[in-house]
Amino acid sequence: MSGTPKYRNGESGMAIGPSPKALAARFPADFLFGTATASFQIEGAAQADGRKASIWDAFSHMPGRVKGGDTGDVACDHYHKLEADLDLMTELGVAAYRFSIAWPRILPDGAGAVNETGIGFYDRLLDGLQSRGVKAFATLYHWDLPLALMGRGGWTDRDTARIFADYASLVTARLGDRLDTIVTFNEPWCSVYMGHLMGVHAPGERSIEAAMAALHVTNLAHGLGVQAIRSERPELSVGLVLNPMSVLPASDSAADRGAAERANDFHNGAFFGPVFEGAYPSALLDGCPDLSRNIQPCDLEVINQPLDFWGLNYYTPMRVKDDPSSPFPHAGSAPPVQPEKTDIGWEIEPAGLSHVVKYLYGRYQLPEFFITENGAADNTEVENGAVSDVMRVEYLTSHLGVAADLIAEGYPLKGYFAWSLMDNFEWAEGYSMRFGLIHVDYETQVRTIKQSGHWYTSLLAAHAA
Ligand code: NOJ
Repeated sequence: MSGTPKYRNGESGMAIGPSPKALAARFPADFLFGTATASFQIEGAAQADGRKASIWDAFSHMPGRVKGGDTGDVACDHYHKLEADLDLMTELGVAAYRFSIAWPRILPDGAGAVNETGIGFYDRLLDGLQSRGVKAFATLYHWDLPLALMGRGGWTDRDTARIFADYASLVTARLGDRLDTIVTFNEPWCSVYMGHLMGVHAPGERSIEAAMAALHVTNLAHGLGVQAIRSERPELSVGLVLNPMSVLPASDSAADRGAAERANDFHNGAFFGPVFEGAYPSALLDGCPDLSRNIQPCDLEVINQPLDFWGLNYYTPMRVKDDPSSPFPHAGSAPPVQPEKTDIGWEIEPAGLSHVVKYLYGRYQLPEFFITENGAADNTEVENGAVSDVMRVEYLTSHLGVAADLIAEGYPLKGYFAWSLMDNFEWAEGYSMRFGLIHVDYETQVRTIKQSGHWYTSLLAAHAA
């Protein structure tokens, strides 16, 4: 791994590479450091105060879908621990917090009657952030579609795009005055492909036809959502959070490079193309004929709304090799190159972060961006009241080093959000994977700031000094 610092443990047991002070000095004074979460992963209180089920409630209650049969029923019980969790953010010293709003908490049937108690929770969250001087970055959709909308076909039904825009309007009208930014979708790649093609996320479909419908309806919902937000509050900064694949060909052969190009069209161009250029890649339209039949005149103009910023979530690269026998994009997965992996088995490759940023800014006209998620599954447990998650500190240090390099090279990176504020429900992995800077004991709901959390605090303090 090029440029990976070698760490040793200091007397305090704290991993040291470049010191937090030296690292902090590489970021401009107005650079925002924050942490991120998502509603379904932390809130729990699944049936409290009028909230109804989302597709993830239903999916996680189906036997065999989530490791250990885990559900989001209680999660981190953040809904009931809001004030204490806000105090922990103050203790960490973050300047910004990225969270998502649970659509089924405020519109339990997806549309129609508004649940005022549900809105009240986000009122308290936003007031709490404001009084602590923490900037609020809200996401409208982080995968918890109201189950009621599944009856009409969920994301495969075009009407869901219009209904989403109404939800976006409501949130902007009621909460927008205290938001610093708003994004329509988080990682639509996951909700579309993992939910409708691979079947490993809700709603668990495995169909290219459904995936292509969900792809287009989601993109359309993004465009209609941006229009709705802008007509409600033109001054609010609007974006979209994507998880572009950092596609690395297994070899320099023309065949593997061709596979990488097709993989880029399928995984990245399917979102970046319509959103930033108003067109799907022609190879995607040819390779997945189901896509075209969903597109109506003017849709692409709606999708292609100018954005104030975009968010990049990066964890690991995607290595591909040519595989003509597999369906489009005819790209098979190639083995990792770096020996180090996080506990979820993802290759640690900070160079993938700079690769994907350079590829995207070379290929599209993009506005400024934030790294809206980056982090490691490191399942180190509490021992004698402390969590020595040295691997996570190394992971964050090496990726922040790359982020600083990108800024030095002129890329318009404005902030960084560590995933995640606290351990939480890791989708199909349930509670088996821990991504938090804060440890959560799911039996007692006791929180313990990990070594990585203390390290992040030193970084943020040095940056603020
Ligand atoms: C991206 C997703 O947005 C988040 O929900 C998830 O927990 C992390 N990746 C880690 O897999």
